[in-house]
Amino acid sequence: MKAIQIVDLSGPESALSLADVAEPDPAHPLTPGEGVTIEVHAAGVSFPELLQTRGQYQLKPPLPFIPGSEVGGIVRSAPATAGVKVGDRVAAFCGLGGFAETAVAPEFFTFPLPAALDFAQGAGLILNYHTAYFALAMRGRLKEGETVLVHGAAGGVGTAALQVARGLGAKTIAVVSSDEKERIAKQAGAEHVVRSDGPWKDEAKEISGGGVDVVLDPVGGDRFTDSLRSLRENGRVIVVGFTGGSIPEVKVNRLLLNNTEIVGAGWGHWAMTHPDACREIGAMLHGMIEAGFVRPIVGQRFPLERASEALQLLERREAVGKVVLDVR
Ligand SMILES: NC(=O)c1ccc[n+]([C@@H]2O[C@H](COP(=O)([O-])OP(=O)(O)OC[C@H]3O[C@@H](n4cnc5c(N)ncnc54)[C@H](OP(=O)(O)O)[C@@H]3O)[C@@H](O)[C@H]2O)c1
Repeated sequence: MKAIQIVDLSGPESALSLADVAEPDPAHPLTPGEGVTIEVHAAGVSFPELLQTRGQYQLKPPLPFIPGSEVGGIVRSAPATAGVKVGDRVAAFCGLGGFAETAVAPEFFTFPLPAALDFAQGAGLILNYHTAYFALAMRGRLKEGETVLVHGAAGGVGTAALQVARGLGAKTIAVVSSDEKERIAKQAGAEHVVRSDGPWKDEAKEISGGGVDVVLDPVGGDRFTDSLRSLRENGRVIVVGFTGGSIPEVKVNRLLLNNTEIVGAGWGHWAMTHPDACREIGAMLHGMIEAGFVRPIVGQRFPLERASEALQLLERREAVGKVVLDVR
């Protein structure tokens, strides 16, 4: 089968190579037992793959390996215990191996793809939306009627967070850096959009009538202190990632003033070790898809062999919505 491999750790321009490799074993490499074998139609491109081209991600398989954490496709074989069967359209999180014509995902991470979504949307459904649900509902305890401010709101996690927040009945304020990203954030359902290079903290306080309840932060960097300042009493900042490049440091006296919480939301490892919770999140998101809240926004698309360009787009901060590789 055709697959993209990471062959060295020289970065997205040169680390990827198209190869003809053997079909994967139905045993999933990261979980015990037989997985679901999937004919891949679309593969999602995400920040972890970019980090993997430099050996900077926590998962460091021996070289060469096939990256690609999530796919949309059709089931070719499945264990009897799986909730899907041969021929089903699915969205699946495989962790690794998605940039290929065939991939294997754990059964608890393979979900029927509702008719409302195409394969490319399926390839953007798990990493970002499961992370968004886990971060907002389970870690940040976002409730109906509360207001959430989402940084990096036109990105993969950001657009997912806007939609999941609305599915939870919350009000949304998106922070973005350009007109094009403002358009994407609105398409994702943001009620208000503010600019990262403007007085976003003051605008957020004004829009929310005194301060937001929750900040979801996949960006980090020097805006973190202003995120804390934008909260109302009992507010929560959810730490999701650091696309801004630097890891913020916090003077903890800021947490006393308004009874503030900073919570981490690390979905990946947690999800791999909590299969029942993954099924539960899948069911909650299924409900949000049926209700029309969740519609992954597909941005730029590339054929499989141009995966390098897709990763460079993420690096240049030019990705909007979910970047997808069309595999067949
Ligand atoms: N904790 C978890 O379990 C978990 C799960 C999934 C992903 N993540 C992490 O979440 C982060 C976001 O992932 P994503 O897929 O949403 O990425 P993405 O689609 O590339 O979006 C990231 C956003 O970050 C903003 N940004 C600010 N400074 C940036 C810079 N210097 N370079 C690039 N982007 C910059 C950009 O928005 P503006 O230009 O509008 O500022 C961009 O749209 C990553 O760090 C990823 O590893 C964490």
